[in-house]
Amino acid sequence: MGVCVTGAAPVRAASPTPLDRVVPAPASVAPSGSPYRITRDTHIRVDDSRETRRVGEYLATVLRPSTGYRIPVTAHGGAGIRLRLAKGPYGAEGYRLDSGANGVTITAARAAGLFHGVQTLRQLLPAAVEKDSVQPGPWLVAGGTIKDTPRYGWRGAMLDVSRHFFTVDQVKRYVDQLALYKINKLHLHLSDDQGWRIAVDSWPRLATYGGSTQVGGGPGGYYTKADYKEIVRYASSRYLEVVPEIDMPGHTNAALASYAELNCDGVAPPLYTGTEVGFSSLCVGKDITYDFVDDVIGELAALTPGKYLHIGGDEAHSTSHEDYVKFMDRVQPLVAKYGKTVVGWHQLTGANPSRGAVAQYWGLDGTSAEEKAQVAKAAQNGTGIVLSPADRIYLDMKYTADTPLGLDWAGLVEVKRSYDWDPGNYLPGVPSSAVRGVEAPLWTETISKSADIEYMAFPRLAGVAELGWSPAATHDWEGYKDRLAAQGPRWEALGIGFYRSPQVPWPAG
Ligand code: ACM
Repeated sequence: MGVCVTGAAPVRAASPTPLDRVVPAPASVAPSGSPYRITRDTHIRVDDSRETRRVGEYLATVLRPSTGYRIPVTAHGGAGIRLRLAKGPYGAEGYRLDSGANGVTITAARAAGLFHGVQTLRQLLPAAVEKDSVQPGPWLVAGGTIKDTPRYGWRGAMLDVSRHFFTVDQVKRYVDQLALYKINKLHLHLSDDQGWRIAVDSWPRLATYGGSTQVGGGPGGYYTKADYKEIVRYASSRYLEVVPEIDMPGHTNAALASYAELNCDGVAPPLYTGTEVGFSSLCVGKDITYDFVDDVIGELAALTPGKYLHIGGDEAHSTSHEDYVKFMDRVQPLVAKYGKTVVGWHQLTGANPSRGAVAQYWGLDGTSAEEKAQVAKAAQNGTGIVLSPADRIYLDMKYTADTPLGLDWAGLVEVKRSYDWDPGNYLPGVPSSAVRGVEAPLWTETISKSADIEYMAFPRLAGVAELGWSPAATHDWEGYKDRLAAQGPRWEALGIGFYRSPQVPWPAG
């Protein structure tokens, strides 16, 4: 500090962040009493469970570098930051945060709730808490109570690792960013025309040959089984469930190039490094196709502790409708055979979605009424719906015509457009009980580095997270844009290069 003129007020006013300046907006906030101040004597006090201790250690890892304090994690009681598991009205992911002069207590029924409460606590501290060198503080948390539970159980982000390959470390970096906003599903688009990204022991050339390039002809890459398990483990440590996708029967050139026998004419096409869609199809009439799918799904299911397996099903323009239905009728039972629940892009609703299946809607305002009605009918018959409207939350759409990255086939999607809609009544005829939540896909035809991911995801990802987490009653662009603006310095502290949308009143830097 040291810039004070004698007798003047301190340069840094010690007023804590208001309890409601959090993204996603908490379900209820009641300010009261004095703030808590983190000092060099602060302990994180956990109950004796392994998971609580793990969340405590995670919080300590955030606090130690910037505060410069020791912040021990201990099972001894006392003042400080307390993380406790207890029965209560918190659900699987909710939490309660109580803050006062004596400490901050986060209470939840499950460790996921404690973890989400920790993300809220981070946002109540100054943005400089995110830095990796010692900062001056003070480290105040406003007094009061937050009670918070999510609106939806599916709050996803998809990363396309096929068009461009991303390393395990790049995926982990994104997972950490997703966790900040209480995202709980990481959908990995593991195969497409341009690359097959997961090792399959029974069909090894899928990865070694089918994974050997990417859009533009770079070296590509693939995850070994150990790599994939490490992504699953890391995501799980941040309370995200991995949803793996093998896109079929279209978007399969990398597989068709790897094994000639998967092609109807027995001839393997060359690898593909362009960005066209809709030209490839598995051979629906050949039995070997289903041996292949059974092997791939079996191995992938064995690596995946989560409930879901995504089978794609979009843009099958080289598969007749009759064949598409036949293919899906044979493939969906294979997902069930390995104990997983089917997820597909919403074109699956044009076939016979299996019981309990989830359809991911990626249409636009301009999608035909007929197609929307088909999705609504499936939803009325029990198919769950995850909303990913492309002209709202496709993170690869350009913000403006000047955005250097991304595509614009679904239009330009500025921050307000991305936030300002309601998943609860978005698709006519879809019962709100069928809506499982929202997911923000990031397709990577033009995206090849972590910095590219971050520029397209931030700030829009925060809005998607809020649509998925916060009660509809809190939805308000005017309030949201101020809360969003407060995230800017946090992203700067974390080294996230975000798009400074002129729609958001970012604080002067
Ligand atoms: C998609 O964007 N083809 C799902």
